Amino acid sequence: MERDRKELPWRILIFLFLMCVSAVMTDHSVVPAPQNVSVVSINMKHVMTWSPVIVPNWNVTYSLQVEGEFEKIHWNQSWFNISECWSISINWCDVTHEIAANVLYNLRVRVDWGTHRSNWTALDQPFNRITTFLTPPELSLQTDGMHIIVKLEDLGPNFDYELFYWKKDEDTLVYNKTVNEASTPVHLETVQAKMDYCVKAQTYVKAINRRSDFSSPVCINVPGDISLNLWVVFFGVLISIMVLPLVAWKISQKLQYSFFPEEILPECLIVTKSHHKLIYSNNNAGECFEAAVQVVSSKKLVHFYTKGFVQCYESSQHAHN
Ligand SMILES: *[C@@H]1O[C@H](CO)[C@@H](O)[C@H](O)[C@H]1NC(C)=O
Ligand SMILES: *[C@@H]1O[C@H](CO)[C@@H](O)[C@H](O)[C@H]1NC(C)=O
Ligand SMILES: *[C@@H]1O[C@H](CO)[C@@H](O)[C@H](O)[C@H]1NC(C)=O
Ligand SMILES: *[C@@H]1O[C@H](CO)[C@@H](O)[C@H](O)[C@H]1NC(C)=O
Ligand SMILES: *[C@@H]1O[C@H](CO)[C@@H](O)[C@H](O)[C@H]1NC(C)=O
Ligand SMILES: *[C@@H]1O[C@H](CO)[C@@H](O)[C@H](O)[C@H]1NC(C)=O
Repeated sequence: MERDRKELPWRILIFLFLMCVSAVMTDHSVVPAPQNVSVVSINMKHVMTWSPVIVPNWNVTYSLQVEGEFEKIHWNQSWFNISECWSISINWCDVTHEIAANVLYNLRVRVDWGTHRSNWTALDQPFNRITTFLTPPELSLQTDGMHIIVKLEDLGPNFDYELFYWKKDEDTLVYNKTVNEASTPVHLETVQAKMDYCVKAQTYVKAINRRSDFSSPVCINVPGDISLNLWVVFFGVLISIMVLPLVAWKISQKLQYSFFPEEILPECLIVTKSHHKLIYSNNNAGECFEAAVQVVSSKKLVHFYTKGFVQCYESSQHAHN
């Protein structure tokens, strides 16, 4: 009995100590819950963020749960673990795949620290993806002959892109073109060479029936069809090669007939300025005969010189006799 009385206070003390330890170990309030919980949603990408919880000498992890409107109404607040966002060590997580419809979603996060867990902290306001912030798409332009090629920022399968383009100095007539993917460059047709064109674009998200603002216009000069120009140059050179010798030959012939008679014209055949009279002198007959033979092939001059030759010949004959 005495022994039991002696041990009792110790047992009580140990019991109280263990109670305290277990109370501390299981009290969630020891670990502060995450604060400043929000969803940042840009271009249909939804990321939940919160202020990091600092515990000295410990690496904490975070875990997220989601609750859709359907579950909340029909299943009385059923939260689901987000497997991609379970026991993560960074203070943000991409929850895009959890948000599948235009309804309210609630999200919550807690801190795990060893065996301790904080309470959950949920969003102040449930999140609806129709509030996503849509940015104007980035675009860059290139030309390929008569085409303008537009490279668009690829924002994923939810996005259509509406392109508007116009002649820079004629901005009342605006063409438009809608494409449903940005992975391949867009070709704009019906543009003219040697013109400045401007292009702007906006995105359209069918799932939420909303459009982004327009990007600021980007302009480019369309220089013309380079390949066409090359063909023109090619054919130009080809024609030159084929025709030039012919032309050169013709010209040389013309020059020959223009200058030859005067140069070799013997003294007996002198063409006056009027070209209708021949002054002939009495020289030897051989020279005159040669001159006449040279000009025979030029039809225009045939008659002219033949007349001269005859007169010249007759006169030289006369001189011989
Ligand atoms: C955690 O939640 C419980 C029950 O909802 C609450 O009693 C306790 O005060 C909360 N702890 C903190 C730190 O908010
Ligand atoms: C929450 O955000 C406010 C303002 O951004 C900041 O002053 C505060 O320190 C943040 N809370 C925590 C726990 O980081
Ligand atoms: C915390 O993480 C770092 C790097 O991941 C590791 O080196 C360190 O040992 C961890 N500390 C604790 C207390 O787990
Ligand atoms: C929802 O839960 C509350 C208590 O948490 C309970 O009173 C209520 O009956 C439940 N409703 C349904 C539909 O399960
Ligand atoms: C969430 O994950 C934890 C740990 O893996 C598990 O104990 C819990 O039952 C899960 N909750 C749901 C609703 O799946
Ligand atoms: C796009 O152009 C077509 C005609 O080519 C026109 O009917 C349509 O209204 C235009 N769309 C916009 C958004 O300007």
